[in-house]
Amino acid sequence: MNKIDNYKYDNKDYLGKGSFGKVYKGIMIDKNKEVAIKIMNMAQFQDKSMLISLETEITVMKQFRHENIVELIDVFGDNKYTYMIIQLCDGDLRNYIKSKGGILEEAEALGVLRQFMQGCQEMIKKGYIHRDIKPENVLYKGNCFKIADFGFATKADTGSNAKIFRQSVGTPLYMAPQLLERQPYTAKSDIWSIGIMAYEMVYGKQPWPCRDIPSYALNIKNQPLKFPVDKRVSDEYQDFIKKCLKKDEKDRISWDELFNHVILNEIERNYKMENRLDQECQKILAQIQKIVQSRGLDVFEQFQKYDKDSGGSLDFLEFFSFLIQLDPRLSGKEIKLLFDKMDINQDQSIGYEEFKKIFFDYDYVKEDFAERIIIDLREIIRANNLQVEEIFAKYDKDQMGDLDFEEFSFMIKEIAKDIKDDDIQAIFDKFDTNNDRNINIDEFRDKLIVKKESQKNQIQENLIQNFVKELRRIVIENKIDIQLIFKNFAKSMRDEMNQTEFSKLCSVIDRRLKPFEREYIFKYLNLNDRDGITFHEFSQIFK
Ligand SMILES: Nc1ncnc2c1ncn2[C@@H]1O[C@H](COP(=O)(O)OP(=O)(O)O)[C@@H](O)[C@H]1O
Ligand SMILES: [Mg+2]
Repeated sequence: MNKIDNYKYDNKDYLGKGSFGKVYKGIMIDKNKEVAIKIMNMAQFQDKSMLISLETEITVMKQFRHENIVELIDVFGDNKYTYMIIQLCDGDLRNYIKSKGGILEEAEALGVLRQFMQGCQEMIKKGYIHRDIKPENVLYKGNCFKIADFGFATKADTGSNAKIFRQSVGTPLYMAPQLLERQPYTAKSDIWSIGIMAYEMVYGKQPWPCRDIPSYALNIKNQPLKFPVDKRVSDEYQDFIKKCLKKDEKDRISWDELFNHVILNEIERNYKMENRLDQECQKILAQIQKIVQSRGLDVFEQFQKYDKDSGGSLDFLEFFSFLIQLDPRLSGKEIKLLFDKMDINQDQSIGYEEFKKIFFDYDYVKEDFAERIIIDLREIIRANNLQVEEIFAKYDKDQMGDLDFEEFSFMIKEIAKDIKDDDIQAIFDKFDTNNDRNINIDEFRDKLIVKKESQKNQIQENLIQNFVKELRRIVIENKIDIQLIFKNFAKSMRDEMNQTEFSKLCSVIDRRLKPFEREYIFKYLNLNDRDGITFHEFSQIFK
């Protein structure tokens, strides 16, 4: 048992350790009351800025007396140690989340967040920001959650947008992009950390993958915020996260607005759950997301291109053209299914906002580690304007014209230091498409160069419309019975026209149509389960 002043503690009652000190459970002797004792070895505090941090922590904590801020009971020290006597808590939020299986239900996370934000409100009112918000620094005692560890706190003008800070402090995973990139930042930096924490509580993981700081900063910059699809979280809770995690401080919600956010203020409320898409739709969306990601496409641009009347929404024909262009393997039936599911208000059109919400806000692709690294590689190449050929030559040490596993590992380790050999193998296998255990320049290019949309498969914007118009014109001008046309072409199967037969019909209407174009039109008409186009489907053209 160690005794200092009016306190005693046992080394075995160790509670935790952070950047500055060790924390023990102890006893206040005269009152026989349990406390936490944070002991800082002053030998570590050679650096003047560390001393200032410690002084701030003490000054700041002394000013607060709030349920949701951990209470500083006493401070004293000698030239060797400084002791902070703190109200004893049961543990920190990190342990709490762990004890619940690494993830919280929304209602529970909300309970934590509301209390935590009460603490923040007090902190902001007194003119401070925390700068190290993370689950390790949120303590709980019974059902009460409290902000702790003001080691990086500082006075801040929380109302102004003036960029006053430069010092990069905190914990990288929770740092706002401005801090990661060592840019000036404002009092809004804490809001970012709150967003990360709010996300982590309900999804049990970080919004952006992090291997090291440079790639983390890049990921945040280049990848949109996405929510896993398999966890039910209300729109309002997601809205809170989205507003906190705006990369640009100008767009990030202000403290005042944050304290007034609906999730913090409404007591009883039935949170709207987004209507989830079924498995089938999720599979289709995953497929499209993968393509968009690997080809680096700008979906918004594509969407607008097919929105011919610029009304901000796509009708079925436009939606079909838009999707078949992104992924020619999709069937008409799949596109129709997605269309019907996405068209919530059933007005036979899909608004961009509707589409964006479903397509961008969620991750349909299950995390694929190897794919992630490849995407990172591409980003690094793009961001630094590198030539793929030069990189290849640089790592092809023996100049044999291909990268063997060893050469390849060497390259991967430069971007992901701590990567395991098994993972490198998985990435290697993705590159090595011909399985000869070597990566040649073509395989290398194939994975790393973002392919421009291939011009030849670009679906002509009015292709289907023109075809339909032409067919109608011919039918009307020549007074042909459409049943007759159908019968003339649909010969092999009763009541159905297969793809070859339909293709023939297309060439008759317009000889210039290329095979893939005929295939698209076929898919557009063939929306049911059958292999061919039924007369009913065919007759839709003339409606
Ligand atoms: N009052 C307390 N009651 C219970 N555990 C505590 C208390 N204070 C700190 N701890 C534990 O010790 C860890 C480190 O404490 P903290 O004040 O964050 O120190 P540092 O500034 O070194 O990060 C916390 O994450 C928490 O797990
Ligand atoms: Mg800490």
